[in-house]
Amino acid sequence: MPTIDVNGRTLHYMESGNGPAILLIHGFPLDGRVWSPVAERLVSRMRVLTPELRGFGRNNPETAFTMDDLADDMAAFMEMLGIAPCPVAGLSMGGYVAQALARKYPGIATKLIMVDTKAEADSAEARGKRDAMAQLANTGGAKAVADQMAPNMLSPATPPAVKANLCAIMESQPAKTLAAASIAMRDRQDFTPLVAGSDSPIHWIFGRDDKISPASAIESLVRPGKDSVTMIDNAGHMSPIEQPAAVAEAIGRAV
Ligand code: MLT
Repeated sequence: MPTIDVNGRTLHYMESGNGPAILLIHGFPLDGRVWSPVAERLVSRMRVLTPELRGFGRNNPETAFTMDDLADDMAAFMEMLGIAPCPVAGLSMGGYVAQALARKYPGIATKLIMVDTKAEADSAEARGKRDAMAQLANTGGAKAVADQMAPNMLSPATPPAVKANLCAIMESQPAKTLAAASIAMRDRQDFTPLVAGSDSPIHWIFGRDDKISPASAIESLVRPGKDSVTMIDNAGHMSPIEQPAAVAEAIGRAV
């Protein structure tokens, strides 16, 4: 797997295909592998870049960072690989990173493709759950985080093999990074002003069975004639691994 040095750290990434570039940002507690089944379906017409966020996947563990730090990494990554500006797709936490990127680097994302994610900041109750998740990561490790999250992440229709793959990805993440990411998500900004005022269209994609980031949360932000919403049947919060063909098709239509 290739690596690139950005902002004083080494990031692993996957790259394949030819054509116009697209950046795919993974969610929590995951790494770039969660995008692989979608990337496979885009490479015949696009250059697909799937970085692993700092601390995740094969990168060195990290103990503290912010959503803006992750956005800075993505901006530097895009510049160094010569793909800026281009469409940016983010899955769940990757959507928060993509929104932080678009807010801090106007114009760098020609289109935002927001997959199983949301725009608003955490409520007080959600912030408390982030603290508990950070504590769980620090005391029980990635397996404890995976065990807590797995039951809510997938559609009941999703086959056991997909769940097993998801759990393997989650359990392989560095616990320290998961604690740091929980705090970064807790403290992320409210992105609703960004999505309400974005010059570029925003394409939302949701698993119809997503309990963590339901489509209902962003309905009022969708601008008719500019933005779009695609609902994916038989998918929950991990639509890129649950229904990769449908997600790739929706991304293909958006770009
Ligand atoms: C994710 O899938 O990245 C997380 O569920 C996001 C979140 O917990 O807000």
